[in-house]
Amino acid sequence: MEQIQIIDAKNHVGETVKIGAWVANKRSSGKISFLQLRDGTAYFQAVVVKSEVSEEVFHLAKELTQETSIIVTGEIREDTRSKFGYELGVKEIEVIGESHDYPITPKEHGVDFLMDHRHLWLRSSQQHAIMLIRNEVIRATYEFFNNNGFVKVDPPILTGSAPEGTSDLFETNYFDHKAYLSQSGQLYMEAAAMALGKVFSFGPTFRAEKSKTRRHLIEFWMIEPEMAFMHQEDSLEVQEQYVAYLVQSVLDNCDYALDTLGRDKEILKNYTKLPFPRITYDDAIELLKKNDFDDIEWGDDFGSPHETFIANSFDRPVFILNYPKAIKPFYMKPHPTREDVVICADLIAPEGYGEIIGGSERATDYDYLLEQIREAGLNEEEYSWYLDLRKYGTVPHSGFGLGLERTITFISGIDHVREAIPFPRLLNRIYP
Ligand code: 4AD
Ligand code: MG
Repeated sequence: MEQIQIIDAKNHVGETVKIGAWVANKRSSGKISFLQLRDGTAYFQAVVVKSEVSEEVFHLAKELTQETSIIVTGEIREDTRSKFGYELGVKEIEVIGESHDYPITPKEHGVDFLMDHRHLWLRSSQQHAIMLIRNEVIRATYEFFNNNGFVKVDPPILTGSAPEGTSDLFETNYFDHKAYLSQSGQLYMEAAAMALGKVFSFGPTFRAEKSKTRRHLIEFWMIEPEMAFMHQEDSLEVQEQYVAYLVQSVLDNCDYALDTLGRDKEILKNYTKLPFPRITYDDAIELLKKNDFDDIEWGDDFGSPHETFIANSFDRPVFILNYPKAIKPFYMKPHPTREDVVICADLIAPEGYGEIIGGSERATDYDYLLEQIREAGLNEEEYSWYLDLRKYGTVPHSGFGLGLERTITFISGIDHVREAIPFPRLLNRIYP
C-alpha cells in the first residue's frame, strides 16, 4: 500500500492509502469521530465510523489528543462539502508519538505566549499558510531573476563595511580585527555587477535597530539586485515588474494559503497592474502639508503615518523619488541639477505596510565618492576596494534591496513582520 502526502490526495481517489499525520483537532459523537489531520502539506479530515472499524480503532480515535502523531490507513473519498475537497475514510490507526497537554490549544493565546512557543506555533494553519507564501515568494524570486538574465552572487555575511550607517551595526571579533554582520550586501554586489553585468543576492542581513515596530526585525532576508549600465528609470521598471511577479505568483500558486489567511485576492490583483505610480519626495511633502500634517518639514524622513497616508492616495504600490541627500546613504548618485537631493526611490506598499524596497542609482565619480565617504565619517582604507570600482572603468549602475519579510507581510495581509519568518529575531527576543 502506498504512503502518500495529503496534497496528492486528488490522484488517489478510491484508493486505500497510508498517511503520516498529526492530530490538529477532533470532534466525536457516539458513532462517528472526525479527525482534523495535518501532514505538513495540507490539512484534511479523516472520518472514523463505528460500524466500519474495529472496536479498538474506534476507541483509539476517540482518545487521540492534540498533536499525537499517527499513521492512518484509509480510503480517499471525494467530498464536496469538505473545504479540502477530499476526506479519508479511516480503516486503521497506528500511534507513532503521543502528545499530552499540548500548550497551544484552539482557544486564543497572547502574542508573547505564542512567540515563546514559536517552535510549535509554526504548526498552526495560519502560520503554515504564511510559510507556504514565503516559500512561493522565494521560488518566484529565483525564477524572475533567472528568467531576466541575472546571475546569483553571494556577498559575505562577515564584513568590514557599514553601507547603511554605523549606528545599528552588530559588531563581532574577527581574530584581531573588528567585523560586523552584514547590513546589506550592496557594496559587494556593485563589485559583482562590474564582473557579471546583472546580479542579485539573496541572504540574511542584520540591523541592531532599537525599533520595536511591526515592520522591524533584527535579522531579515534581503534580495539585492545590481545592474551595470543601468540608470534609475530602468531600475524602477525592474522593481515594479519584480513586485508584480511576486504578487501574481502567490495568486497563481497559493490559493489555499490566501484563503486560510482571509486575504482579499481582488485587492492583490490590483498590485499586478503596471506601472506603479511615482511621486517625488518634494510632492509627497506638499501632499502631506496640504492634508494637515504639521509634524513634517522638507528634509525630514517619513514616519509610518506619513508613508501610510501617501500610500493610501494610490491604489497600488507607489515609488517616492529623490529624497534629500542628508537622510540617505553616502553611495547614492547626486541629482544632476539639484544639490540637495539624490537619485533614489523607496517603494511604499499599500494598506499601511510601509517601505518594501529601497534603491538608487549609484555615484560613479571617484572624487565625489571619496568626499562622501569622508563626510560620513567612514574609514577611507576600509573602502578603498569600493573606490577601485570607480577607478577602473566606472559605469552608470543602479540597484535596490527588497525586504523579504516586509513583502510577505504585505502579500499575506498579516499584521506583523514577526510572523513572516520562521524564527524571528526581535528586540529582546532570541528564543526559541
Ligand atoms: O532601505 P534599505 O536600508 O536599503 C539598503 O539596505 C540598500 N543597501 C539596498 C540596495 O540598494 N541594495 O533596506 C532595504 C529593504 C527595506 O526597504 C525593507 O524592505 C527591508 O530592506 N528592511 C527591513 N526589513 C525588516 N526589518 C528591518 N529592520 C529592515 N530594514 C530594512
Ligand atoms: Mg530604506
